[in-house]
Amino acid sequence: MKKLELPKLPYSYDALEPVISEEIMRLHHDKHHQGYVNKANAALEKLEKFRREGLDIDVRATLRDLSFNLNGHILHSIFWPNMEPPTEDNTPGGVVADKIDEFFGGFESFKKEFSMASKSVEGVGWGLLVWDSSNEQLLVVQVEKHNLAHISNSSVLLALDVWEHAYYLQYKNERGKYVDNWWKVVNWDDVDKRLSKLL
Ligand SMILES: [Fe+2]
Repeated sequence: MKKLELPKLPYSYDALEPVISEEIMRLHHDKHHQGYVNKANAALEKLEKFRREGLDIDVRATLRDLSFNLNGHILHSIFWPNMEPPTEDNTPGGVVADKIDEFFGGFESFKKEFSMASKSVEGVGWGLLVWDSSNEQLLVVQVEKHNLAHISNSSVLLALDVWEHAYYLQYKNERGKYVDNWWKVVNWDDVDKRLSKLL
């Protein structure tokens, strides 16, 4: 079985301050993301034993565990490199800027839609920008927990974690303020590279 590993952050823990505090980044990356990696590995190991040794497992529960934790791992692995140290007036360039103009009618209207989707996730989840290759279009997607069932043929380009563990220590219950500030740390070069590979 191929084990999943926690990817290293592409910057230091305090690199996103003051938008996201060092304390949040340490907990979020080292504890929460590591937890998803560990639990996804445990589910994969159980399935391996079920297949090879006939271990008696609850297949339904194990597959649910795997889906939840593996998706958690995948989304966080996109979320970290999607960010970089903050800049004011942080805007996209390259192909992604053109596509955002084409599909959303401009950066401001994209930002509005993505922010509204992220702020209104019921409970915990994610706001995503995806490329839907079935219809060759950019879409904003709202995800509850880590469930990616919505659009099967899509690739995640930009992910915003709106679980409380991503902001509560610093922003308390003000998810909206966290989302508004988060735009300063988006690494648009990374988003552009992800999209360019797909076109
Ligand atoms: Fe998270």
